[in-house]
Amino acid sequence: MARARSVYRCAECGHEHPKWAGRCEGCGAWNSISEEPVAVRPGGKGRARAGGGGGRGPAGESPIPGRLRDVAAEPLTRLRTGIAELDFVLGGGIVPGSMTLIGGEPGIGKSTLLLQAAARLETAGRTVLYASGEESPDQLRLRADRLEEDAGAVHVLGETRLEAIVEAARRVRADVVVLDSIQTVYTELLESAPGNVGQVRECSGQLMRFAKESGVAVIVVGHITKGGGIAGPKTLEHIVDTVLYFEGEATLDCRLLRATKNRFGSVDELGVFSMTDRGLSAVPNPSAMFLAARAEGTSGSAVTALMEGTRPVLVEVQALAARSGYGTPQRVATGLDPRRLAVLLAVLERRADTSFADLDVFVQVSAGVRLTEAGADLAVAAALLSSLHNRPAPADVIFLGEVGLGGEIRPTGGVERRVQEAARLGFRRMFGSARSALQVPGISLVGLNHIGQLVRALAA
Ligand code: TYD
Ligand code: MG
Repeated sequence: MARARSVYRCAECGHEHPKWAGRCEGCGAWNSISEEPVAVRPGGKGRARAGGGGGRGPAGESPIPGRLRDVAAEPLTRLRTGIAELDFVLGGGIVPGSMTLIGGEPGIGKSTLLLQAAARLETAGRTVLYASGEESPDQLRLRADRLEEDAGAVHVLGETRLEAIVEAARRVRADVVVLDSIQTVYTELLESAPGNVGQVRECSGQLMRFAKESGVAVIVVGHITKGGGIAGPKTLEHIVDTVLYFEGEATLDCRLLRATKNRFGSVDELGVFSMTDRGLSAVPNPSAMFLAARAEGTSGSAVTALMEGTRPVLVEVQALAARSGYGTPQRVATGLDPRRLAVLLAVLERRADTSFADLDVFVQVSAGVRLTEAGADLAVAAALLSSLHNRPAPADVIFLGEVGLGGEIRPTGGVERRVQEAARLGFRRMFGSARSALQVPGISLVGLNHIGQLVRALAA
């Protein structure tokens, strides 16, 4: 019997219990009791996990399931990297014992971001091992010299053999291990070459087990090859706890970090960085950055406010309608679903007598942001109309509303927060559904019920 072999001790007062209980009989503390094996099992080390939610019986017996209510919920402690935007996207910091994958095209700044995070963690007293199969320690040193942070204390290792990396992590008692990149490591257990799907999968599995067993947080870099690559991070996404994507135009300075999977937080948050000559720096005011390049007084531009997770962000939508050279007119959408563009063009045509039939239409969104909310419809329609008539939309207006197939304009959720952000950046009017509830000082609502009203308002 499992009971005879374990004692259940309160961490607060040391009182022993014959079986697990949620509350200590000695001192009355909640969730303080954990199981301690009396007989040392072969290979068993330390104390069994707290919570008493089942456990393994004597060798050979199958595990005993426990009640979910008896499982003590351990509070998540997180390691803050000190890079606010990274911590924010992670949901508050790195969770010990977790495995995070960060994907992105070569040259986007993954190694830079992680070296900066490593430097800050070391400064905060955490031990970080940065193992790179991509670069030698002296190349890492060259990068480190450019950075704002002092990365001098970070433990570095130019190594591609997984077993050696794990051994090194144990030796330096790392809190966090960064592995750059998963495509360059191999395990001795397999004969295939690094980067091979089997290697990537086996190495990730081993790293995941290492993370869970040791409580070390593991962060791995994964390259996405332009052609879809042999062992892109897609294979890994199912294994790891958290998947981050780092994206942006390599030619522009703006970099966007988002989570596409997060067992410990939300997946909607967006982190915005700019690449400087001293590494990546967090952009505290993304809206201002996204609108910085906006040329006021130019036709084909409209501003909308998106909710990126919990934060409102203002972005510019640009459209260009141009006479088509020949054949079927083109429809090119960057940063929004081309089908959404097709729907809006059809609604404008049928419900507002505004035809783009013989025009090429191009729509894009500032700085690599994606429009996934229907609330951005009105801004896309406004940008299209503005370009069509070659009349700039008023500079102090933001557009916020969903366009239905009947041409009706519907309100969007979270209007207050979006509009407050707009007010902060100097916008004075919101074009939106007449049914929007708007009470934000400094901003007035121009209420619209139908897309036809937008056409007339922009033509006036
Ligand atoms: P890197 O982190 O090596 O990208 P990845 O690991 O995703 O392949 O970043 C490479 C680019 O960033 C490279 O073009 C140089 C540039 N960079 C800066 O502009 N400023 C800096 O301070 C650093 C370190 C890099
Ligand atoms: Mg790199």
